[in-house]
Amino acid sequence: MSLFGHNSKKYNPKKPSHLAHAVVTGAGSGIGRSFALELAKRGGTVVCADINLSAAEETVALLNEIGAKGYAIQCDVGDAEQVKSLSEQAEILMQHPTTLVINNAGVGLGGKFDELTLDDWKWCMHVNLWGVIHGCHYFVPKFKQLGYGAIINVASAASYTAAPEMTAYNVTKAGVLSLSETLSAELRKFKIKVNVLCPTLVPTNIIKNGRLPGRYSNLANHALMNYAFTTSDSVAIETLDRLDKGDLYTIPQIDAKLFWLMKRTSPNLYAKFLGTSYKFFK
Ligand SMILES: NC(=O)c1ccc[n+]([C@@H]2O[C@H](COP(=O)([O-])OP(=O)(O)OC[C@H]3O[C@@H](n4cnc5c(N)ncnc54)[C@H](O)[C@@H]3O)[C@@H](O)[C@H]2O)c1
Repeated sequence: MSLFGHNSKKYNPKKPSHLAHAVVTGAGSGIGRSFALELAKRGGTVVCADINLSAAEETVALLNEIGAKGYAIQCDVGDAEQVKSLSEQAEILMQHPTTLVINNAGVGLGGKFDELTLDDWKWCMHVNLWGVIHGCHYFVPKFKQLGYGAIINVASAASYTAAPEMTAYNVTKAGVLSLSETLSAELRKFKIKVNVLCPTLVPTNIIKNGRLPGRYSNLANHALMNYAFTTSDSVAIETLDRLDKGDLYTIPQIDAKLFWLMKRTSPNLYAKFLGTSYKFFK
């Protein structure tokens, strides 16, 4: 591992591997695309699911360029029937049971609590929380049947930082964190590994694709693209390595680790720090 990135490792095709036959949601862009490419570099076959079919197809074309097998499927992860069908189609396309699901699809939503409409809340919950619940719901029984498997849920540092003006997003990610922690304990005896990814800023299209009030969307996008301490490729590599080692958490950046530590060791002090800094910056 270097200071700013991780190097990919190939899995041994002679041994059964949870990386070998993967489904990645939101694979048409950003972190999902990086996961798909990294799995392909390690020798895996990947089903790339996205609500945007042409974006998923572009990812598959990138996999094919490096000689890997990939399949694109259109899927809205917030729709249970579509995720059920994804779980069935993936097995048929790969001619092998799925061994890893990466519940990555997500959307960004910002704004003060009283600025958000209920439609905003439902949209964010539909993709970020229900999408992950659906992915776990349909793949866990398949992994139990297979006798092994793995789940990576993409949460965010927002799952524990409670940053202001991100209520709905924070709530969905806190749900993903809790779901992953509980599943990890419940599924260990079935040889099903769970990892939850909690990054801070990663340069992707999340702000461009999200719903943010105009007053700070340009600023947020500028910060995301210019001041992130990592890349989506590096985050994907570290997460797959941690999953391999059997770690539950991937907290990739230094700021994400610092917030984690502050929140866990001094929760009341952390709450005061957050409120005071918010007051100061307003
Ligand atoms: N970029 C960051 O700073 C950051 C930080 C922490 C966590 N995350 C999380 O990482 C994950 C990936 O986001 P990203 O940053 O790569 O963003 P992105 O916008 O680049 O990619 C998200 C992908 O998800 C797809 N998608 C959106 N709604 C969908 C739906 N209903 N069904 C299926 N696919 C859908 C989009 O089409 C897109 O291809 C998200 O869960 C996000 O919350 C991102």
